[in-house]
Amino acid sequence: MTAIGNLRSTNKDTLREVLTRVQAEGAALGHFNVADHVLLKAVIAAASETKLPVFVGASEGEREFFGPSQLAALVKSLRQESDVPAFLNADHTHSLAKAIEAANAGFDSVGVDFSALPFDENVAQTKATVQAIKAINPAILAEGEIGDIGTGSEIHESAQADFSKLTTPEEARQFVEATGIDILAPSVGNRHGMAKSMVQGKTKKHLDIERIAQIKQAAGTFLTLHGGSGTDDEHFRRAISSGINIIHINTELRVAWRESLAESLARDSNEVVPYKILRPVVESVKQVVIARLKLFHGQAVSPEVVGTLA
Ligand code: G3H
Ligand code: ZN
Repeated sequence: MTAIGNLRSTNKDTLREVLTRVQAEGAALGHFNVADHVLLKAVIAAASETKLPVFVGASEGEREFFGPSQLAALVKSLRQESDVPAFLNADHTHSLAKAIEAANAGFDSVGVDFSALPFDENVAQTKATVQAIKAINPAILAEGEIGDIGTGSEIHESAQADFSKLTTPEEARQFVEATGIDILAPSVGNRHGMAKSMVQGKTKKHLDIERIAQIKQAAGTFLTLHGGSGTDDEHFRRAISSGINIIHINTELRVAWRESLAESLARDSNEVVPYKILRPVVESVKQVVIARLKLFHGQAVSPEVVGTLA
């Protein structure tokens, strides 16, 4: 992987242009989920500080809490004022109605997720959804998912390893051809959320790197890696050089958000000024985002930030 100090993205570039450029640099675009303004501020501040593009994501639950149109308006406004590209993804969208809502709200991409359905039904529903959102905005990018990567960007009692539904290269080829998606999210050993031992920095997720390379070859599209929190750094690097273009991180941000909020509240029980309580939370989440962005772009990462979230 080449270190990126020379990524010449501007905040006028499209998501497809940025993905193409990041891929050519041997890097991956960091995708960070947000559920509130604190998380969003942290992600945008990290992008500004590192001068690296970011993908802001919000799942159906996160969108419902934020308000899809309000989130889109905020990202648009922050993007206009920032000197780096920030894009918005409707992450894990499980219905045609929610995909249409996101496309109408101005999202740059929709993560169409019918992966819980049998393969043929997943193909049919994904294809119909891709057609519907591209009819609203031809420039929108559509992601499709196959295989099982678990649910819940949360802390789990133990690692949810289930390698019975890993994506095969042939499934990937058929799915991309049949649906017209721009981005494929495969199951390659990745799982959503973090085991307690991962939060403590004692264990890491490992990926099936050879499978990623085979899927990339068969699918010929951009590839997204979900469930990035707690993944071994070296596996991230190898996944990127094997064809991963986007990496999703959520639980690591949520852990930093909760821990720093608890610390901030505990510091002074008489403090009631929200921005004084929340400023350290933004800072702490920002440090996690910066560490992940640097790793995804081949830059040196200070070991004290990632892996010591607890
Ligand atoms: O879509 C969001 C993610 O895939 C994040 O997964 O919580 O394991 O980082 P994570
Ligand atoms: Zn995900």
